[in-house]
Amino acid sequence: MKAAVVGLGIGMAHVAGYLESPYADLYAVCDLMPERLRLVGGTFNEGSMMCLKPLFREDILTKRWEDIGVKTFTSLDALLADPEVEMISLCTPDYLHAEHADKVLKAGKHLLLEKPLDTNFQKALIISDDIINTDKSFGLEYEFRVNPAVLKMKKLVESGDVGEVKAFSLYHFRTPFRSDKWEGWIQDKERSGGLIIEETCHWFDLARYITGKEIESVHCVTEDGILPRVNFENIAYINGTYRDGGVFQISHALTGFDFSLQLTLHGTKGTVWCGLKDAQYSVLDNGETTYYGIVCFGKPDMNPEEVIRWTWGKEVAEPWNIKEMVKNFVEKAVYGLSQTAGVVDGIESLKWALKAQTSARENKVIYK
Ligand SMILES: NC(=O)c1ccc[n+]([C@@H]2O[C@H](COP(=O)([O-])OP(=O)(O)OC[C@H]3O[C@@H](n4cnc5c(N)ncnc54)[C@H](O)[C@@H]3O)[C@@H](O)[C@H]2O)c1
Repeated sequence: MKAAVVGLGIGMAHVAGYLESPYADLYAVCDLMPERLRLVGGTFNEGSMMCLKPLFREDILTKRWEDIGVKTFTSLDALLADPEVEMISLCTPDYLHAEHADKVLKAGKHLLLEKPLDTNFQKALIISDDIINTDKSFGLEYEFRVNPAVLKMKKLVESGDVGEVKAFSLYHFRTPFRSDKWEGWIQDKERSGGLIIEETCHWFDLARYITGKEIESVHCVTEDGILPRVNFENIAYINGTYRDGGVFQISHALTGFDFSLQLTLHGTKGTVWCGLKDAQYSVLDNGETTYYGIVCFGKPDMNPEEVIRWTWGKEVAEPWNIKEMVKNFVEKAVYGLSQTAGVVDGIESLKWALKAQTSARENKVIYK
């Protein structure tokens, strides 16, 4: 598969995935920012995407794209007109997703789209129809789906070890969004959708993916008055119910000084606790990081020594998950096997994110 990456911010993790995949050739990259198109490591000169740097061999980062055999484009239309290109990773800002995806589909290429489907639900519905009707592969980059700790939780559900899932919770504590994105798009609710569309969409996806349950209702409250530079939710607390019974809770704060993600599952036969943190930050454990992810499984009244525990290294950190998802998507296009999220997952996560915003605005429970 000859692949191209459009948008070289987080798109650099996609680049790393295509470079590593045995089934793909990185054919081209496309961006509007000259510094990102100059050198392979151009993105990292700005310092904002440093966490992606370890995904690359050091010697590649000082080379020009052409030196490693990769074409550069400044126009998506020009890239799509190149008949050699077979597969596109679209990593442009959220509000451009449907518009750019439409061009990719019309050009007849396989499409791996960064989340969310779009910020606008009508546009997301229209593009979903087009995706359903294409014979090309489509994947939505909800990379936590390939996180080994998340997969362990999912397996404990599917094996029946947890019993019937009665409750799911997710607590995300993180630093504010970076201010150096292209034209500052992420700080602006019109272009990013705000915290809940931009990022909580991941957590709605996990609330469905890990439990295998569909959401029935949400109630959300937000606090918007801590971060001066953003015009949307700084913190969102969401409670909800599942359609066939059970409850969930998502707590999402952009006002942290570190990165931490905690997930729990409570079933009729067992309880699961999962903690994830970013490789770079270790303030939460005083610099004593020995693992980046941990999953514990036991029963509510169990002696703590009997609890089963699994730990992981950097393979559970987000940049590695994104790279793995890209490799996974290439296999989908080649062999039809994949864990990437599809259209229904994209619509469901966006729909519930939008309903959570409505709930916060109108202070009421919103149903299916
Ligand atoms: N899956 C994840 O966990 C994850 C993490 C970070 C970002 N993202 C998503 O990735 C996307 C990009 O985010 P980012 O952080 O890299 O933003 P960014 O602003 O750093 O990068 C976006 C890039 O797109 C380029 N671009 C904009 N319009 C273009 C066009 N018409 N043609 C070619 N290039 C164009 C810009 O020049 C810029 O380099 C967003 O949708 C975001 O939600 C996903």
